[in-house]
Amino acid sequence: MFVVVGVTGGIAAYKTVSLVRLLVKAGHDVHVIPTDDALRFVGLPTWEALSRNPVTTSVHDDVAKVRHVALGQSAELVIVAPATANTLAAMTAGLASDLLGTTLLATTAPVVVAPAMHTEMWRHPATTHNMRVLRERGVHVVGPADGVLTGGDSGPGRMSEPEDIVAAALALVERPHDLDGLSVVVSAGGTREPIDPVRFLGNRSSGRQGVALARAAVARGARVTLVAAHLEADVVPDPRVEVVRVGTAAEMQRAMDAASPDADVVVMAAAVADYSVAAVSERKLSKDRTGGDTLTLELVENPDIVAGLASRRRPGQTIVAFAAETVADEAELLERARAKAARKGVDLLAANAVGWTQGFESQENAVVVVTGAGDVVSRAAGSKDETADALWDAIAAARG
Ligand code: CTP
Repeated sequence: MFVVVGVTGGIAAYKTVSLVRLLVKAGHDVHVIPTDDALRFVGLPTWEALSRNPVTTSVHDDVAKVRHVALGQSAELVIVAPATANTLAAMTAGLASDLLGTTLLATTAPVVVAPAMHTEMWRHPATTHNMRVLRERGVHVVGPADGVLTGGDSGPGRMSEPEDIVAAALALVERPHDLDGLSVVVSAGGTREPIDPVRFLGNRSSGRQGVALARAAVARGARVTLVAAHLEADVVPDPRVEVVRVGTAAEMQRAMDAASPDADVVVMAAAVADYSVAAVSERKLSKDRTGGDTLTLELVENPDIVAGLASRRRPGQTIVAFAAETVADEAELLERARAKAARKGVDLLAANAVGWTQGFESQENAVVVVTGAGDVVSRAAGSKDETADALWDAIAAARG
């Protein structure tokens, strides 16, 4: 595969040496584009020797071959590692000031960036904004990892390990197309039930797992509708996914009922409020009106959306639920998963253990997948992207 590796000016450039070696060893045709700053960390001869291809940084070299766009046009995959705050800003702005910039503008291949910078720079609103825009454009982000940084300080900002970046990047392009032509509906996020105009009952779901499921399905060939309730700011759906935004459980039910009849697979990954407030106050509740030391809210049960979809499913349609459980051990998780899958009448149920520090607001997940009959068909642990792919493997296998 024709792989372009952009290297930008951060100390982590030394780790990109092994990234390039891994790609070359795996038989890929690697073309390195360092920025001028990157060459202060690792010199041009190193990149040429490792990649076994000529390396330039200038748009004015090899003009006859229109090199400033040729690499981008030929690329089947582009990896930028390390991606400095400066490069991420330049990518967001679409700057074409060097060979890497023109290549990134000229390519239609998947682009993977591995950010590396100090924690303060990673958390700066400018960088947060840039990452959001890049994700919206379909750029894949690996890392940064949490750990000790060059200055001795620690926090998120370390470039991910070369093996992880290569694995994530190759998984994007070497995906099976086993969902080709399928129509898929995924729900994600957490619903919010209003109490009054300014307050709600909600939950800690970020939407990360559901958004990863939608992204994986689209990469494997499906047409995907994502019904999204209150995603975290940094959780951005793939641009190829059709997104329907909802707020409450009732809105989610309407959207799911509308989107699902023609779907081949429905995955209910959203955390849906089990109850809503019986009488939503038109005015903000205030202590002088409610009085007393305690406040009682009357709640009414919401309909079970996934159970409804399962009971109305047409032949050939696969309905998948999730279950987030606080359990003591794996045996209890399995027991609850089996009972829940049977009660809801779904084809598959992916159960994960959650707690105060587990499951939510995390990049990782671990699920066990059971069938409606209670058989364990899959176990997956890793990033939410890896978990998503493992779940689609299980769904594809169950559909036969
Ligand atoms: N779910 C749903 N509609 C609801 C509540 C949950 O469709 N009103 C779906 C979730 O999207 C998830 C699955 O049901 O796919 C399991 O959700 P969970 O909250 O674990 O199940 P509950 O039925 O609420 O069971 P319990 O509260 O007893 O654990």
